[in-house]
Amino acid sequence: MKILVSLLLSACVFTGANAKGLDPTYLRCEYKVNPVTDQKSPRLSWELQSGENNQVQTAYQILVASTPENLTEAKADLWNTNKTNGRATYQIEYKGKPLSSRTICYWKVRSWDKNGVPGKWSDAASWEMGLLAKNEWKADWIGLDLDHLGKGKIYHLPPAPYLRKQVVIKKGLKKARLYVTALGLYEFQINGKKAGDAFLTPGWTDYDKRVYYQTYDVTSDLKPGENALASQLSYGWYAGYLGYSLLVQNPVVRAFYGKVPLLKAQLEVEYSDGTKESFMTDQTWKASTGAILESDLLNGETYDARLEPTGWNKGGFDDSKWEKAQVFADKPERLIQVYPGPPVKVTQTLEVKTIADRPGGSYIFDMGQNFAGIVGIKVKGAAGDTIRLRFGEKLHPDGRLMTENLRMARATDTYILKGDPQGETWEPQFTFHGFQYVELAGLGYKPGKDAILGLVIGSDTPKTGSFETDNAMVNQLYSNIDWTQRANYIDIPTDCPQRDERIGWTGDAQVYAKSATFNRDVASFFTKWVVDLNDAQRKDGSYPVYAPAPDLRKSDTFSPGWMEAGIICPYQIYRAYGDTRMISEGWPAMSRFMDFLEKRSKGGYVFKENAFADIDPKGGFGDWLSFGKKTPPDMLASFYYAYCADLMAEMAGAVNNQKDFQKYTQIGAKVRKAVLAHYSDASGKFKTDAKAYGNGAGYVDGALGFTGHTQTAYANAIYMKIIDKSQTKKSGDFLVALLKENGNKLGTGFLGAKPLLPALSATGNTDLAYRLFLSKEFPSWGFEVEQGSTTIWERWDSFTKEDGFKYNAAMNSFSHYAFGAVCEWMFGNAAGIQATQPGFATFDIKPEIAPDGMGKEGINHLKASLVTMNGKVVSEWERGNSGLNLKVNVPVNTVARIHIPSEKSQQILANKENISKSKSVKLIGTENGHTIVEAGSGSYEFVVK
Ligand code: BGC
Repeated sequence: MKILVSLLLSACVFTGANAKGLDPTYLRCEYKVNPVTDQKSPRLSWELQSGENNQVQTAYQILVASTPENLTEAKADLWNTNKTNGRATYQIEYKGKPLSSRTICYWKVRSWDKNGVPGKWSDAASWEMGLLAKNEWKADWIGLDLDHLGKGKIYHLPPAPYLRKQVVIKKGLKKARLYVTALGLYEFQINGKKAGDAFLTPGWTDYDKRVYYQTYDVTSDLKPGENALASQLSYGWYAGYLGYSLLVQNPVVRAFYGKVPLLKAQLEVEYSDGTKESFMTDQTWKASTGAILESDLLNGETYDARLEPTGWNKGGFDDSKWEKAQVFADKPERLIQVYPGPPVKVTQTLEVKTIADRPGGSYIFDMGQNFAGIVGIKVKGAAGDTIRLRFGEKLHPDGRLMTENLRMARATDTYILKGDPQGETWEPQFTFHGFQYVELAGLGYKPGKDAILGLVIGSDTPKTGSFETDNAMVNQLYSNIDWTQRANYIDIPTDCPQRDERIGWTGDAQVYAKSATFNRDVASFFTKWVVDLNDAQRKDGSYPVYAPAPDLRKSDTFSPGWMEAGIICPYQIYRAYGDTRMISEGWPAMSRFMDFLEKRSKGGYVFKENAFADIDPKGGFGDWLSFGKKTPPDMLASFYYAYCADLMAEMAGAVNNQKDFQKYTQIGAKVRKAVLAHYSDASGKFKTDAKAYGNGAGYVDGALGFTGHTQTAYANAIYMKIIDKSQTKKSGDFLVALLKENGNKLGTGFLGAKPLLPALSATGNTDLAYRLFLSKEFPSWGFEVEQGSTTIWERWDSFTKEDGFKYNAAMNSFSHYAFGAVCEWMFGNAAGIQATQPGFATFDIKPEIAPDGMGKEGINHLKASLVTMNGKVVSEWERGNSGLNLKVNVPVNTVARIHIPSEKSQQILANKENISKSKSVKLIGTENGHTIVEAGSGSYEFVVK
């Protein structure tokens, strides 16, 4: 830290600045702008702006007050940190007066700069406390049991209950809040207007342990006099189908948590005169069926517009024929908490690209992009005309919609017209699909493009990354990665959005987690899902293969490569955002998992062949979808054990837990020793006792045989630092040799593909990494792009122009982010953006330049950026006639070590002056053909002649 500050102080004198000092912006609480939270010590953050280079915060002051008027130094009644020295601008825990439910906290901050000069106060921001104790919920769980109406031969799909209640608002309002949750899904309306714009509320949790609620400011939606409170419920994850159970033919396929969706809502108003009143769900509410005849998250929605009870969601409606709502008992141990994640929303709309006529008067609309979401329709026809919408990711060569890969997911929406001569519009409320193509049948005329509008749905994670090059294939690949992330980060990270799975497979999530942090701000998204993971921890301490984890299949337990998500995901969030709360809150669960591993290794600290023969599939999923002989899953499990021990040691350090730091450091060393003793020979080559696996029966692809000497083995060993530093190069050589033997083609599956390019880069084989990255031959990322992909596929050749869906079409998801984990290498190596301290407080810019002379097939210009907790980092390089140009942006309050690819400092210009004489950056030295400089905040341009 001392070096850092002195560097900043020495450099500051020479910078030409306009706006001096520091301006705090983007004030957030628990990663959100002006949120509602139930964290008793919510964490605050801000970003700093400055017109000066080399700026750093030396102190800050936060004020928190209970009214905007009190937000002054003299009056701040909740918290005044006074001048507090330090650089911290994020993860600052509120430590003021204890906060009670419903308190609105107004806050602002100012920062002292490197010269000790305080800047201006920021604009005010706020957060609001939710309901902190469960007994503040006075509302009942209400619903209407319609389960008996779920007729149907294949699917049991009961209609959606409608609930309503008229309330009288006696006088003018000062403030009104609506707290709502559901077991299932809800949409809530006040006087016909939907509360908020979130979709699929309140999200998926282990409903026996906790359920989340949303809070809406409805002050302006209510008026003195009669007001209508109205809600529709759906079955969702709580009572609807969970597709994976259909796939594996589990005896139970739906209603895993309960049969009847339930609502709990509480409207609390404060009148202008200070008096208060509350209205809540109870037995006085009325209930009925309505127009939503079928409503299932996976299978789709059916809406008969003729049955819409017109005006039911507004005042003055006659509900005398409606039934009384049924009241259901609560589970006392179930927590009710504020939804911690980013809301699921419509994040974008997509217009139709083309329409194709199909036989029988149906039409297929091409949306031009594979995505997850729904469509809104605009149609005209007679009452009773039935529009059927089917969804597919691909077309067959003859133009038919390809739905084989949906397997048991019906994914069909139906709209029955009421016959409005003006035309009718509709969109489903409680379902979504993964698709690019929409087949519309049942319309009596040829529709125009405006008949359908695509509504992209996903957790609203702010976009933080960008990646552009002069190579069209690479740009498309990056777009595919981001689209696939968006299609699968929907409340939880899923494997795929379309077919009968759509569950939180932990293996997919862990291999991709770091990549995700380069594209979007996923801090609060993982804050939510890591709780799901910990809730799903098994009795024996293992983490499951998916979370949340209802009993979708009896034989599902845990799997190496999947279960480690419980350690890896919190770790990646810590590294990307400096979040230590996830570590301290998860520590008991994470420690239990480490104990589970220790117990499983039976004191040997290595998992020998067949160590996991008792699970199904034997050994777990292993290097899922790899080619050729299998990497022994037990060997991979052992690598992961060492890796998890390292991450635990680092995380223990982050929360000042010295005891566990020591403990896990020692375990990491023991595992490494045992692993190498068992799985590698004297030359450092990985081996296994393949005979121990017999004919491989029961193992994933076990018939292919097993060998320790695989791309996946070395890629992981290098990435996870299993081998001794002195042996790393050797492992790199083995990896290169194996690739060469394979025609320089990858053979890695889910667990091997992610570390493959980083491992090549780490062992000085960047050119080969680029070769694989830029390849357009099967199997490769480029191959998929060449085949017309707009998302990442489950298999490299899920579809080929030449052979179509040549394998089993049913096992081909066209929106599966696991192989998108190459994103980590794209940002971390190709652009060279690597955090050296959590949250990018310090970072390296160490771009690896693509090989020259590849013309259009190569990369000559690459620009990547990432908005970190500190602000925007940019790394851009371009090869031109006069040499290499490198542009870097270092955010305020951070320091970068920039590695310029040339050792000859006399040939390098920094901001137009010779680097050795540069006053804007500090020369550190040379390393591996690079000149390293240190730079504080600002924009820099380097030219290597
Ligand atoms: C899923 C995967 C998942 C796997 C387990 C598949 O069916 O789609 O992505 O991780 O099963 O191996």
